[in-house]
Amino acid sequence: MEIKFMIKTLYSKDVIAVRVDELAKEISAHYGDSRPLIVALLNGAVLFAADLVRSLDIEIMFDTLGVSSYENDCQTGKIDFRTRLKINPAGRDVLVIDDILDTGFTLSKVADYFIASGASSVKTCVLLDKNLEGVKKPVKADWTGFECDNLYVVGYGLDSNELYRNLPYIGVIDTSI
Ligand code: IMP
Ligand code: MG
Repeated sequence: MEIKFMIKTLYSKDVIAVRVDELAKEISAHYGDSRPLIVALLNGAVLFAADLVRSLDIEIMFDTLGVSSYENDCQTGKIDFRTRLKINPAGRDVLVIDDILDTGFTLSKVADYFIASGASSVKTCVLLDKNLEGVKKPVKADWTGFECDNLYVVGYGLDSNELYRNLPYIGVIDTSI
């Protein structure tokens, strides 16, 4: 597939799988038998969340929430809730899953939403946390897969204008080719 030659791999499929298993162990140990409500943010977190929840060895409830704050690969500074939850988060231990923490705007707004909705606790898990070199973020994830450089990354759920989400690895678009 031509696409493979344009994208430089940062995290291979195997490297991601190992880290997802480690996160799943930590999350399982943390929640034990409390049956958390795990909410994957659409669309980016879908692939990560699907692998993560299948590696957990605890009972969970699962839901999704459609949010977006990016247009043409740029943060817009406003968040759109595009879908509604099926499960009421009130009184539940909520774990929000996202693909990547960039400015932190999305995750902080979503965490505020769950607190306002009466969740008993709100924790967050992201696969990637971008190193913004000295910029203070409004939120830090409770579980992070990898800290990555401040690059625009695609694959394993992450898109560039809705392309590349289906790549099994994470990489950067190589514009030198
Ligand atoms: P934040 O609100 O700036 O933290 O951005 C978080 C959201 O922006 C994530 O849920 C992603 O959907 C998207 N995003 C941020 N950086 C990237 C990137 O490098 N590649 C693809 N999507 C990104
Ligand atoms: Mg997203």
